[in-house]
Amino acid sequence: MAKKIGRNDPCWCGSGKKYKACHEAFDRKIEMFKNQGHKVPAHKMIKTPEQIALIKESAKVNVECLDVVADKICVGMSTEDINRIINEVCEKHGAIPAPLNYEGFPKSVCTSINDAVCHGIPSEDEILQDGDIINVDCSTILNGYFSDSSRMFMLGNVSDENKKLVETVKECVELGLKEVKPWGFLGDMGQVINDHAKAAGYSVVREIGGHGVGIEFHEDPWVSYVTRRGTDMLMAPGMMFTIEPMVNMGAPDVFVDSENDWTVYTEDGSMSAQWEIQVLVTEDGHEVISW
Ligand code: MF3
Ligand code: CO
Repeated sequence: MAKKIGRNDPCWCGSGKKYKACHEAFDRKIEMFKNQGHKVPAHKMIKTPEQIALIKESAKVNVECLDVVADKICVGMSTEDINRIINEVCEKHGAIPAPLNYEGFPKSVCTSINDAVCHGIPSEDEILQDGDIINVDCSTILNGYFSDSSRMFMLGNVSDENKKLVETVKECVELGLKEVKPWGFLGDMGQVINDHAKAAGYSVVREIGGHGVGIEFHEDPWVSYVTRRGTDMLMAPGMMFTIEPMVNMGAPDVFVDSENDWTVYTEDGSMSAQWEIQVLVTEDGHEVISW
């Protein structure tokens, strides 16, 4: 943690200011939490104002992608049609869909229907049906900067039971967001999300969580939603990560489709829902970057 920086040296953050006038107090505060035994963020997890501005440009494209999907999605459409929308919007802005070729992922967006938890692969053969609930998970690279968010869509006549799942998971994210502030802990958010899901009789997927994002698609820290208040990593201004709990109506257990090695399903076949937002920790709270 910047032990060798002199007080009059330029700050490690690249601001050009002297360390003593920039992140010295920040580092001391972090050191204090570290000495108390907490997990603390590394310098590379702290975004500069310049990086944040560029990530926000990427997020504008990501939000537009999801807005166009929201506008066009309907029963009878294929998930490949959603993939085409993402490609078109990205192309219009000179952006690249981040999932495409990511660790071999074959498409530009993840489309996960009903008991699919995440990483569904768009297909011409997969037609949206009346009553379906679907997560569209969109990630964009613009000028090398990453944004990532996902929304649920409900098609036609969705059962009250499934509607409640979709709405409750959105509330989970909103409640979790309120916990995002400097010098709190990721576990504050994790517990609030978990408690709200459990109160409705649902369960939160343990194996897959959120992540730092912005400079790369997936950065540290890994973000769990089965954590407890006061635990997990300290939040500090400049950190950016996703809030993206996957919540199952039944048991939390999941499995990966052995045919495509990607799509994750609930083990018990119960419905699953997820919303994802990209959040920045600011000096006095948080800012939503992509939703
Ligand atoms: N958008 C997903 C996330 O939130 C990542 C899926 S992209 C894939 O991390 F290529 F891995 F499918
Ligand atoms: Co994500």
